[in-house]
Amino acid sequence: MPRGPRSPLWLLLLLLLPPPSTSGHGGRARPREGAEEAGSAGSWPAFQGLRERLRAAGALCRRYWALFSCRVWPEGCRQDEEAPARPLGWSLPLLGQQYLDILTTWYCSFQDCCDSGDCRIINNFTGLEADLRVRLHGQHLARELVLTAARGYLELPRPDKALALSFHGWSGTGKNFVARMLAENLYRDGLRSDCVKVFIATLHFPHHKYVDLYQEQLAAQIRKTQEHCHQTLFILDEAEKLHPGLLEALRPHLERQAPENPRAKSLKTIFLFLSNLGGNIINEVVLNLLKAGWSREEIGMEHLEPQLQAEIVESTDSGFGHSCLVKENLIDIFIPFLPLEYRHVRLCARDAFLSQELLYTEEALDEIAKMMVYVPKEEQLFSSQGCKSISQRINYFLP
Ligand SMILES: *[C@@H]1O[C@H](CO)[C@@H](O)[C@H](O)[C@H]1NC(C)=O
Repeated sequence: MPRGPRSPLWLLLLLLLPPPSTSGHGGRARPREGAEEAGSAGSWPAFQGLRERLRAAGALCRRYWALFSCRVWPEGCRQDEEAPARPLGWSLPLLGQQYLDILTTWYCSFQDCCDSGDCRIINNFTGLEADLRVRLHGQHLARELVLTAARGYLELPRPDKALALSFHGWSGTGKNFVARMLAENLYRDGLRSDCVKVFIATLHFPHHKYVDLYQEQLAAQIRKTQEHCHQTLFILDEAEKLHPGLLEALRPHLERQAPENPRAKSLKTIFLFLSNLGGNIINEVVLNLLKAGWSREEIGMEHLEPQLQAEIVESTDSGFGHSCLVKENLIDIFIPFLPLEYRHVRLCARDAFLSQELLYTEEALDEIAKMMVYVPKEEQLFSSQGCKSISQRINYFLP
């Protein structure tokens, strides 16, 4: 079986090499001094020549590679490397520029490239599973549900609907953390990927009087992102504060789509809604079960889901529960984040030390965990801020 060049990279290398000598075997045509010393007369000069050529080609390749990788992964390039060098004739000859374009086009034909560079979709479920198991504390329900839902959805060949997950719980329980884990394990560039968009209600849509404008902007952003990427992730933080008009604008993106041309590119879209809606009822249910002697891990969705859904639908201070998204069952799963206990806060503190490669003592972990306020007043069981701002608190304990 003939083995041709396997990839255009090889082609590029061959193009960069000068044509091979036509004088037949070995280097006899151009003997050099010292050739005899090499032992096998004749082959040495050829080897030398080839090595020179390879070295030259290698240097060129490195330069192409540097330019190429700067184009595809711009964040990996130091600005100061490129900018001052330009006036000194660093610009490639026209031919080189064309090679670079060909190489980039070739690369982007099987990877996903965006304006900002590489927005490769990695869908690392092993990494996601490990992150949820090791770095997320006290959320056995969210851990299972998020992994199962994301994997199940993304492995469908042609989903006819977006996946919509709604995270509920007090602040500091890990909702944002899990959203970030998803972004980081599904996309090479994580939250910075062009395939991932984060909207924070009070930051991106602060004024109710502009809701018409926001609706257009939101729909345009979703469309544009989907044009770039066949798999997109939209995170809507502070979902309880989203104007009903904006929730309405999301409806067409969450509804089931009519089956299209089977050869059309399949679109996979995940929406995450993050809110503290229902946080109180989750805590109430968990508290009652714990007081009744249950262990935390025995608490299942059957204990929480009915009451959580009822609470969301009935909440009067937010449009979310009354929106078409909830009323028309466009949200696939309501995921409860349980209130965190003392031992979970300790684990968050330990992680904070480890992530900065700092040494810690068990006493320091206790000290930090004790700094949090625990509720309810009587039982003092749940950290009112969860694990929020733990990483700043460890600063007090640094040597
Ligand atoms: C997936 O993530 C794990 C853990 O972060 C990592 O060790 C592994 O190399 C990743 N796999 C791929 C294919 O990126």
